[in-house]
Amino acid sequence: MKKKFLFMTIIFSLLLITACGQGGQQEEQTGEDKTEEVKVLKMATSADFAPFESRDPSGEIVGFDIDLAKHIAEELGYELKIEDMKFDGLVGALQTNRVDIVLAGMSATEKRDKNVDFSIQYHHSGEMFLTLKDSEIKTIDDLVGKKVGVQLGTIQEEGAKKLQETIDFEMKQVDNSTTLIQELLSNRIDVAYLDKSVATGYIKEQDLAGFDDPTSSSPGMAVAFPEGSELIDDVNKVIEEMQASGKLEELKEKWLTEEE
Ligand code: ARG
Repeated sequence: MKKKFLFMTIIFSLLLITACGQGGQQEEQTGEDKTEEVKVLKMATSADFAPFESRDPSGEIVGFDIDLAKHIAEELGYELKIEDMKFDGLVGALQTNRVDIVLAGMSATEKRDKNVDFSIQYHHSGEMFLTLKDSEIKTIDDLVGKKVGVQLGTIQEEGAKKLQETIDFEMKQVDNSTTLIQELLSNRIDVAYLDKSVATGYIKEQDLAGFDDPTSSSPGMAVAFPEGSELIDDVNKVIEEMQASGKLEELKEKWLTEEE
């Protein structure tokens, strides 16, 4: 009897291992490989950036970028696989061809453009300094002597470094945008410097305050690809169609807080 049980357990484990192995294999098919039956589009994001990408209570990654990516994948006939990683690792993931595309509220800066390629821009967000509601910090001049938090690898990290040349404040870099907000709420930083389209959501939900960055001149957000990717033209076409049909605007209305 015992022997039979052992035998069944071994068989079951073997079946399980085979099943897992197959799942893994499917993931190996990349967007470039068009000969496979199921074309998989490997996307990376940093799911710490609501409403563009964050985890819902069930742990699923949702948001504006996710809906956009799903639509792109569907239109081009791919199955979308999403990998969650730190924002400052995304450009590297493209450079090493670990993923086919990145949607992460990523601003299409000239500096990044040297290492990756970008689609046309699908959204423009200014930048904002987010504070607690009763904060006395109301303009960038009030930043003197304060602690300003930014997310590692973002345009705001660069912007803050530049601002430090003229305004004397301390900068704190964290690798996660959600952590950044927690730092603000728990008074470990005085200001969080981030995209306006994200900040406005927090102002509403968490009853915070904020002011626009008058020095901001950042480019809009775009889909990023490994340099020379064959997908760029097709993705641009889908985005253009979405602009023309009103589908892109619809997504903005669904996810983004209106900005004054
Ligand atoms: N727009 C900014 C940038 O491109 C911040 C993006 C942060 N995105 C994120 N998923 N945490 O640098």
